[in-house]
Amino acid sequence: MKYHSEIERRRSFAIISHPDAGKTTLTEKLLLFGGAIQTAGAVKSNKIKKHATSDFMEIERQRGISVATSVMTFEYKGILINLLDTPGHKDFAEDTYRTLTAVDSVILVIDSVNGVEEQTRRLMEVCRMRDTPVIVFVNKMDRDGKNRFDLIEEVEKELSIHLHPMTWPINSGKDFKGVYNLDNKSLRLFAASTKAEEDDVLHISDLSDPLLDEKLGERDAAILREDVELVDGVHGELHVADYLAGKVAPVFFGSAVNNFGVKEMLDTFIRIAPTPRSRETSKRKVDVEEDRFSGFIFKIHANLDPKHRDRIAFLRVCSGKFERNKYFHHVRLDKDVRFSNPYSFLARSKDVIEEAYPGDVVGLFDTGNFKIGDTLTEGEDFYFTGIPSFSPEIFKEVVNKDPMKTKQLEKGLLQLTDEGVAQLFTQFGGNKKIIGCVGELQFEVIQYRLLQEYGASVEFKAQPYYKACWLTSKDEKKLQDFTRFKSSNIAEDKDGHVVYLAQSEWFLNTERNNNPDIEFHFTSEIHKADQ
Ligand code: G4P
Repeated sequence: MKYHSEIERRRSFAIISHPDAGKTTLTEKLLLFGGAIQTAGAVKSNKIKKHATSDFMEIERQRGISVATSVMTFEYKGILINLLDTPGHKDFAEDTYRTLTAVDSVILVIDSVNGVEEQTRRLMEVCRMRDTPVIVFVNKMDRDGKNRFDLIEEVEKELSIHLHPMTWPINSGKDFKGVYNLDNKSLRLFAASTKAEEDDVLHISDLSDPLLDEKLGERDAAILREDVELVDGVHGELHVADYLAGKVAPVFFGSAVNNFGVKEMLDTFIRIAPTPRSRETSKRKVDVEEDRFSGFIFKIHANLDPKHRDRIAFLRVCSGKFERNKYFHHVRLDKDVRFSNPYSFLARSKDVIEEAYPGDVVGLFDTGNFKIGDTLTEGEDFYFTGIPSFSPEIFKEVVNKDPMKTKQLEKGLLQLTDEGVAQLFTQFGGNKKIIGCVGELQFEVIQYRLLQEYGASVEFKAQPYYKACWLTSKDEKKLQDFTRFKSSNIAEDKDGHVVYLAQSEWFLNTERNNNPDIEFHFTSEIHKADQ
């Protein structure tokens, strides 16, 4: 319990959204409230422009920006907030999934015009797997969006989560007049604001207050009264326990670009969002209040300068105190390591830090010792679980165009896949190397980086697979037989685990039906426990 007060004042979260819904804009407004930036426009969008799949310089530039904006730490009303950035581009979705393992809650931004979009759906699936508490921000209320009730219904249905409106909008688009705060019964009239000041809020004792008619006009006041009656009738009070269990998501309406409705959300966030939570490991649950340090690597970022191979590994502290220059136990390598220049990300600049506490993210210089999921402790052997690799969706064989550079290629492939840029499979009984990614853009990045950073020139040959499944069986013999019979579809992942590469859903289902003694897993998580 030594670090109780440090833990109590921390909140670590990520903002997730479909590209263009307003994640960057909202981030900027939150930083403004946190005093981390002084003017709007200071946060550069780190999204890779949607169609610029071949603009490598752009990718490189973005990689540089995204190191700086990977974690943004700021303080608001005495609470230390760690905001972890997630890449907007869908081809880097796996990066986002992993970042979600390092946060305790998320804010989901939905565009009121477009409603639930594809990527929102997938990201929410990951949140649901972990029962991550979610707050929803319905953005762009200054545009003619969907009907508010329809939107709520759509989100609830599409994302399988109950919503609990905390504010309620008065019209949208040109007629947008503001939001009514259902919690503290106040009205905030719509006005664009670029500063982080307290805006004027009208407190109204009850909805029959004639001030409402005066400010909104009779028609809109009447609509609001009707809406609120309906919403209150359906939703009642917010039960914070349901939010913390990931069952109910409080929802706010606003306009990020106008800095409207953001403060209501932030104030609620610091009141109800979870403090750093205890976490499961392969051996036991690690209580966040334990005195002994533990943490795990959830992201690795290559150095921008190709002459330097070092990378930055992002460590999430899970218990105890991280200290500069203190030896910690690297579980996978079974060796003790210490860090002389650990970084924190306060106010968007990198600063060397002396110590860090649960919920914090520390940037560690790495010369190739880390891969995603690695655990550091004060001596105990365990792995944090819940950091899976998901099945890739596109598979390509790596064709070496320059046999003189075979060694460099192998090294590059290992390092890039350690970073989690892609997954590497080696075909059973052969030497064929297959790379699996979630998006085409990643192949271009890999090809480019292999050449730039390792001098290895490659081409990719498309492979007819649609999914990779990790195989286990209680009956070792059955598993061996299966891998022998199906050898052309069997590969090993980087850790030597057996993987079945399925050509189609039909093949996969057939094999599952024909081999009831073999289990087909869709994430690599299953192997963590016995490593
Ligand atoms: P993202 O990070 O989720 O991809 O979204 P981002 O914040 O970059 O926002 C996408 C676009 O939506 C931006 O416009 C941004 O200004 C706009 N936007 C954000 N919030 C609101 C809002 O509340 N109302 C309206 N009407 N627009 C909003 P852009 O034209 O793509 O970029 P920019 O030139 O304005 O930066």
